[in-house]
Amino acid sequence: MKGCFIVFEGLDGSGKTTQAQRLFRYFEKRGREVIAVEEPGGTPFGERIRAILLDERSSLEPLTELLLYQASRHELTRRVIRPALERGAMVICQRYGYSSLAYQGYGRGLPLEWVAALTERATEGLTPSVAFFLDVPVEEGLKRVKRERQPDRMESQGLEFLRRVEQGYQELAAHHPEMVRLDGTKGPEHLFEDILRALEQTKGGQSGGVYLH
Ligand code: TYD
Repeated sequence: MKGCFIVFEGLDGSGKTTQAQRLFRYFEKRGREVIAVEEPGGTPFGERIRAILLDERSSLEPLTELLLYQASRHELTRRVIRPALERGAMVICQRYGYSSLAYQGYGRGLPLEWVAALTERATEGLTPSVAFFLDVPVEEGLKRVKRERQPDRMESQGLEFLRRVEQGYQELAAHHPEMVRLDGTKGPEHLFEDILRALEQTKGGQSGGVYLH
């Protein structure tokens, strides 16, 4: 595949949206075809699933929740991400399979093998060139979210749940070579510099395909 697939991961309030937007503008200014998407959502069906998943009134079994995230992911991957990558575009995605491992696996306690197997099917084995894990302490992320809006269903799961998710991300970052852990408590400017530096380093490396200039 010709394009380049960049994912942002981390707790809510870790700064994914700000950094994804910056990176989008960075590539756009340089004349690259770039699209920005986020999970869950990004397709008409995915947006409907997103509404169910984030609605405080939804009471879902953990496996139902996992299947819904995977359904949204499959639609987004087949209909948006793969076609864009095949055209040679850059794709910047907020959250991908790592979120299901962190939230439904480590957070909800579903067996990690199930989560991984379903992600493998939903993505048809597509792995990002780079996945940035923006690491912020649980309390800091929650504080940032609450400053901006009312927390949604997933954000209201309590500190213990979020701590398991955070621990999960640490373990994922240690075991996935394409994951780059960055300090999300740095200011947005410094964090963006770290992102560009990390992308420079992957250039021509094993993940390849991230050409900044
Ligand atoms: P997100 O879009 O990051 O929230 P917002 O736009 O409100 O900042 O993600 C919505 C929530 O869904 C978030 O709390 C994490 C959760 N989530 C999972 O639990 N599993 C998944 O596979 C994904 C993609 C998200």
